[in-house]
Amino acid sequence: MQFNLAAVLGDGVGPEVGREGIKVLQAVGKKYGHVFNIQHGPIGGAAIDATSVPLPLDVLKNCKNADAVLLGAVGGPKWDNPLGKVRPEDGLLALRKGLGLFANLRPVKVFPTLIDGSNIKPEIIKGVDLVFVRELTGGLYFGRPKKQWRTPGGRRAVDTMSYSDKEIERIVRVGFELARRRRRKLTSVDKANVLETSRLWRQVATEVSADYKDVELDHMLVDACSMRLIQNPAYFDVIVTENTFGDILTDESSMLAGSMGMLPSASLAGVPQEGVKIPGVYEPIHGSAPKRAGLNMANPIATILSVAMMLRYSLGLPKEAQAIEDAVDKVLEEGYRTYDIMSEGKTKVGTKEMGDLVAERV
Ligand code: IPM
Ligand code: MG
Repeated sequence: MQFNLAAVLGDGVGPEVGREGIKVLQAVGKKYGHVFNIQHGPIGGAAIDATSVPLPLDVLKNCKNADAVLLGAVGGPKWDNPLGKVRPEDGLLALRKGLGLFANLRPVKVFPTLIDGSNIKPEIIKGVDLVFVRELTGGLYFGRPKKQWRTPGGRRAVDTMSYSDKEIERIVRVGFELARRRRRKLTSVDKANVLETSRLWRQVATEVSADYKDVELDHMLVDACSMRLIQNPAYFDVIVTENTFGDILTDESSMLAGSMGMLPSASLAGVPQEGVKIPGVYEPIHGSAPKRAGLNMANPIATILSVAMMLRYSLGLPKEAQAIEDAVDKVLEEGYRTYDIMSEGKTKVGTKEMGDLVAERV
């Protein structure tokens, strides 16, 4: 089969890990007889430097027309001026909003081979297999007003947390649908003891649960959830939550898997379903890690696993997705590690070598 993909690899380590993701994708193409046409475009700081905007219109258009988008990472100290008019991150947010990608899936799986590499005790993280469903186009990230201004008493700033019942309903449904295909347990995370948006969130989640009687729903406050993720992460199956809570909790959860460099993500405009191809953006959850850029150090596994998610959800190629996941397992079993997951007695490799090892085993 033929597929048209867009690659926006961005800044810092983004292009390096992205290259390895594409290498593995091409290995899949070769083995299974698919052709992946990839159109590259700038996003983030790279786009600001080239065009003065973080997501040029033709790049957005290209992403809209593609079967799927592979994204690296955006941001870096060069564009960090708090008084700057545009920020690299705006490009990422515009892409999410522009493609209507309201559902961000972030699976957290503990690899048996890495269980001793985590900062958390092996007996606590053993068997962890959960997935976050993070709302991605609402909440504090997009709410208006959003501004900073001067008052006679000093400077002031405001961000707005806002959600409609429709926005909550569609993301909660994604959570229920995924839970239905897994262990049938959905945890909805909010701060309903303080926030009005959370009180609406909890009401809507409860209402939607009437359509999913086969799934057990529980509500958890976000502070309690952040504690429970460390204390007993195996408790969770699917977690659905709003944008900012999801951002924070998924970084925390990456430590269960040993490193941010291990966690892939898919941003989708609907419920993923077997046999149905939906467009999406696929990216590692880690950032641009500017200190690691250009050093052939960064772990490309999060990106490689994001490519697997792309094959599964947007391209309708589950067998090929599985081949990538198995290849990653194999390379880890053979003892190869990038610096972030390195431990005694293992073989340390760089970004490129890790990509080669996985591609060879596809
Ligand atoms: C993420 C990142 C982004 C976010 C940043 C880069 C804007 O942290 O994807 O988790 O906050 O959503
Ligand atoms: Mg984040």
